[in-house]
Amino acid sequence: MNKPTLPQIKISDLSIIFNKSKHNQFTLLSKLNLNFFSNKIYFIVGNSGVGKTTLVHHLNGLLKSSDGDIFVEDIAILGKNRKIKDVKKLRKLISIVFQFPEYQLFKSTVEDDIIFGPLNFGLKKVEAKKIAKFYLNMVGLDDTFLSACPFNLSGGQKRRVAIAGILAIEPKIIIFDEPTAGLDPKGEKQIIDIIKKLKDKGKTIIVISHTMDIALEIADDILLIDKKTITFNGEPYTLFTNNQLLATTNVVKPKIIQIIDCLVHHNKNFVLLYSIKPKTIAELARGINDVLIKKGE
Ligand SMILES: Nc1ncnc2c1ncn2[C@@H]1O[C@H](COP(=O)(O)OP(=O)(O)OP(=O)(O)O)[C@@H](O)[C@H]1O
Ligand SMILES: [Mg+2]
Repeated sequence: MNKPTLPQIKISDLSIIFNKSKHNQFTLLSKLNLNFFSNKIYFIVGNSGVGKTTLVHHLNGLLKSSDGDIFVEDIAILGKNRKIKDVKKLRKLISIVFQFPEYQLFKSTVEDDIIFGPLNFGLKKVEAKKIAKFYLNMVGLDDTFLSACPFNLSGGQKRRVAIAGILAIEPKIIIFDEPTAGLDPKGEKQIIDIIKKLKDKGKTIIVISHTMDIALEIADDILLIDKKTITFNGEPYTLFTNNQLLATTNVVKPKIIQIIDCLVHHNKNFVLLYSIKPKTIAELARGINDVLIKKGE
């Protein structure tokens, strides 16, 4: 019998409560129990303000709640007043690309910004510089950007530099908070490809996103946050074909599933597409063709 796989991140009974015991006490998330397994791509989705960013800030100890426990591999994050034993190890294990890149960029050149993490984790400057160049190129910026001042870059360029800075730390678990916001279509495609490549390298990826087309394309599992809890945890097609559940949130179906719904409306044979589960335009086209051949149309 196979040994059951242990979760890489385990969240037990986590509640996030602001202004605790005051008259304006506010519960953002209540008694969450959640596991993340290694080498998967998770998407966290949900309306603005449901607590996606706040939740992930608890995963690397940036924020601490006094209610509930979090384990990231063998590192425990237990309550507000209890110290995390090895914060540095935790930050090397799990890093966050922030929702707003400005929070992350603070040096006077792009190169200094990207090498900051690797230097902090003990790399020699020459090595760190090599890594900076590698990851800068990976996010689609050429070497001329190394000497640029991060604050003079466009929003999309800042985001790419912030992503390169986290990739340069080479953490095992990477959290991307709205990584494609403000990027042009090519930049968006590059980030999708980077996330896929990171998974191939064995990383665990958690992405917060409002872009359901990307979630459908690359997520192994999607977590939907609503009403202070996780109301869905499972594979994309199960979520995106659950009209009742979606109706309770602002989450919209990915375009590919909207097209399938329209096709089915005109021709019931296309219901087969829900089990073929196309995730890209090319897969959808192939699926439509297969259905037409099968039904002799
Ligand atoms: N320290 C705090 N005290 C009180 N309320 C807070 C605090 N920090 C966050 N909040 C509130 O918690 C809510 C959740 O914020 P969060 O940024 O996590 O949402 P989100 O799901 O990431 O939204 P978006 O999709 O817009 O990024 C917001 O209403 C925010 O104002
Ligand atoms: Mg957010």
